[in-house]
Amino acid sequence: RNTRPNKNLNSTKTKCKKLPHAIIIGVKKGGTRALLEYLRLHPNVKAPGPEPHFFDKYYDKGLNWYRNAMPETKRHELTIEKTPSYFVIKGIPEKVYKMSKKTKLIIVFRDPVTRAISDYAQLVSRNPAAKTFEELVYINNRTHIIDTSWTIVKIGVYAQHLARWLEYFPLRQIHFVSGENLIKNPAVELKKIQEFLGLEQYITADNFAYNTVKGFPCYRRDVGSSKWHCLNDEKGRLHPDIDSSVKRHLEDFYRPFNLKLYSMTGQDFGWS
Ligand code: A3P
Repeated sequence: RNTRPNKNLNSTKTKCKKLPHAIIIGVKKGGTRALLEYLRLHPNVKAPGPEPHFFDKYYDKGLNWYRNAMPETKRHELTIEKTPSYFVIKGIPEKVYKMSKKTKLIIVFRDPVTRAISDYAQLVSRNPAAKTFEELVYINNRTHIIDTSWTIVKIGVYAQHLARWLEYFPLRQIHFVSGENLIKNPAVELKKIQEFLGLEQYITADNFAYNTVKGFPCYRRDVGSSKWHCLNDEKGRLHPDIDSSVKRHLEDFYRPFNLKLYSMTGQDFGWS
């Protein structure tokens, strides 16, 4: 029998795959890709590139499948994934809780009206024959009643979705990011997120530069490097022109839910 202690056991050099310590659960079109790519600048953060969709599509495959979809990490490194559809699907909070009640959750919120238009822009880019936004957003064309069964509208009722997560997770375990501020001031948001995750402050303003062509921040891994990365053309799309009266109707529809969200989170996101 080999009784010699295994020198690698518990060593920070040993690599293994871990279930996620934190998950970016939403919201779709909130800036979730940007946030994940920014977090990956941290040497102690590892994340899979694609969205794993474990809790909504592959749950039957089991936790070993999920773990295997994660990159290898050393002991002190954090595993993070992002799948924004998790936020709005019933039953997922319980599934995440069953995996680990300690899982930290991150949600990037964005003005639900802009979010809806962004989501619609994505829909049109994939299906150019789609009906107009105006045709889809109302129950019928004569009334100005918002069609709350349209997924693109439903996703933006953040307070309702969040309430389901709060049945399982305490507020202190959820970090809320302003999607608007993530564009305007990524370093400020990243400072708060690194603190929430218990990470050393590594990502700073020096990692970001506003790119006037892209109209968004781009980022670099090393602060001394001149190699900048920007997200691809699917992020930061041109939005279609939506009539201001339609936008106003949507704003009116969302207002009470937004106010509810501000009181639930203790954070005013400043949407109209
Ligand atoms: P638009 O394409 O409507 O501008 P997600 O990754 O969750 O799908 O979010 C996409 C949104 O991220 C984009 O929506 C854009 O507004 C926002 N975003 C935030 N930071 C960005 C960045 N650095 N580059 C491109 N888009 C960014």
